[in-house]
Amino acid sequence: DRTLKIAPSILSADFANFGAECRAVEAQGADWIHVDVMDGHFVPNITFGPATCAAIRPHIKTVMDVHLMIAPVDPYIDAFAKAGADIITAHVEAGPHIHRTLQAIRGAGAKAGVALNPGTPVEAVAPVLDMVDLVCVMSVNPGFGGQKFIETTPERVRQLRALIGDRPVHIEIDGGVDPATAPKVVQAGADVLVAGSAVFKGGSVEDPSPYGDNIRAI
Ligand code: DX5
Ligand code: ZN
Repeated sequence: DRTLKIAPSILSADFANFGAECRAVEAQGADWIHVDVMDGHFVPNITFGPATCAAIRPHIKTVMDVHLMIAPVDPYIDAFAKAGADIITAHVEAGPHIHRTLQAIRGAGAKAGVALNPGTPVEAVAPVLDMVDLVCVMSVNPGFGGQKFIETTPERVRQLRALIGDRPVHIEIDGGVDPATAPKVVQAGADVLVAGSAVFKGGSVEDPSPYGDNIRAI
């Protein structure tokens, strides 16, 4: 299903109110919920781990899309699967054994994603395209919300779409997605758009109606 999906990133939500924020953003039209896990090692920021994902899970009716910005990945796969992640995405740069990692993710019963940092050639995921449900193309350097979209991304998406061919693999864009940048990556072949600051700006758990306006604007 390649219809366009918007996946708000709760990295830009109220960290003291994840449950309410997930319910609110779904009620306002979110297709998936994107959950950013950072370890202060693979990326220079720390968020939260599987226990928080498990706590959030009952507040999400749709897909919980877990983006792991951690290294190593393999010791934690079962914990994120048990926490209820529908999709678990690991970075191709996170270690030497992405093939093993993706096998383990599917083995744990989740859908598998592979993410590419902006400096990594898209060809790096070519050998594993039959093992994934999603490729996440980072359009910022991972670690923080609110960064500027890197303009080489649409060309990278075109290259990746050609590599993927007719495989049933989503292309997800993560970072700096807003009403100005979204059309460029959709035109290039992306079908899942992660958006943090562009969705949550101007709203709050008390008044989430701006979230809906922001989602529709993308
Ligand atoms: C960045 C995260 C993104 C982030 C995007 O490392 O992976 O998911 O939340 O935030 P915005 O949409 O504000 O660039
Ligand atoms: Zn992310």
